[in-house]
Amino acid sequence: MYREWYLYFFMQIDIFVSNISHLKYVEEILETIETSAKARGTGIAKRSVGYVEKKLKEEKAVIALTSEGVFAGFSYIEIFQEGKYLVNSGLIVHPDFRKLGLAKRIKGKIFEHSKELYPKAKIVSITTSLVVLKLNTDLGYKPVTFSELPQTDLFWKGCETCVNYDVLTRTKRKMCLCTGLLYDPKHHDVKFNYSENSKKLSRLKRIKQAIFLKVKKIKGNKIVMLLSILGSKNI
Ligand SMILES: CC(C)(COP(=O)(O)OP(=O)(O)OC[C@H]1O[C@@H](n2cnc3c(N)ncnc32)[C@H](O)[C@@H]1OP(=O)(O)O)[C@@H](O)C(=O)NCCC(=O)NCCS
Repeated sequence: MYREWYLYFFMQIDIFVSNISHLKYVEEILETIETSAKARGTGIAKRSVGYVEKKLKEEKAVIALTSEGVFAGFSYIEIFQEGKYLVNSGLIVHPDFRKLGLAKRIKGKIFEHSKELYPKAKIVSITTSLVVLKLNTDLGYKPVTFSELPQTDLFWKGCETCVNYDVLTRTKRKMCLCTGLLYDPKHHDVKFNYSENSKKLSRLKRIKQAIFLKVKKIKGNKIVMLLSILGSKNI
């Protein structure tokens, strides 16, 4: 607790749009992402050193650093269908700097940067993380069915290294443990109210885990039907 207060009041953390001067942080970024995924027992879309380097060089990422240059957090932009769709991906906050509101700031920065680069793009997200669900819906994303997400193989390729990939293939990409979210610049006026729906979202996550991970024999289509009967097809 003392550490958190100390960090909150005395440590200055700034978030920068990336450039070549940030290439030295690549190894640490990848290591932090991988260690956190292992600790959570979830899958991740694996990124290579070259891929992250490219994002940093092309200024398609944001990086959080302390005033002493210590790495604190990261996220980058993925581009699909020639900029029709974007994903703000790879969100990571180093364990030393969590619960200080940094993910919220990083998400805000990468979101604004994405809109500046591609003002007409739809921004999508697929996540199992309730924290990310909250942060994204606060920014104006809304839960959607998977059919509203990009349909290119390239978009779904990122899921291949996820531990739950078989669920996605079983349901023929109609549904997975992740919730699909979409920010449409044309329809962002009415926000999805996360606080009103958080219990429903947590319950749905548990139901999906129970169905998809324990009842493996149920065929994909039957699962989709079952969840729509439960009234949760959209999330
Ligand atoms: C998830 C993660 C990015 C959160 O980073 P963070 O800097 O600690 O988050 P913040 O402090 O900005 O908190 C954002 C919100 O989530 C809430 N939150 C943060 N951690 C939480 C947790 N473990 N459980 C529940 N809520 C949490 C905060 O209370 C805050 O809500 P508020 O806006 O109502 O105050 C960080 O824990 C992380 O890097 N985890 C590993 C990687 C990961 O899970 N990435 C996301 C999926 S790709």
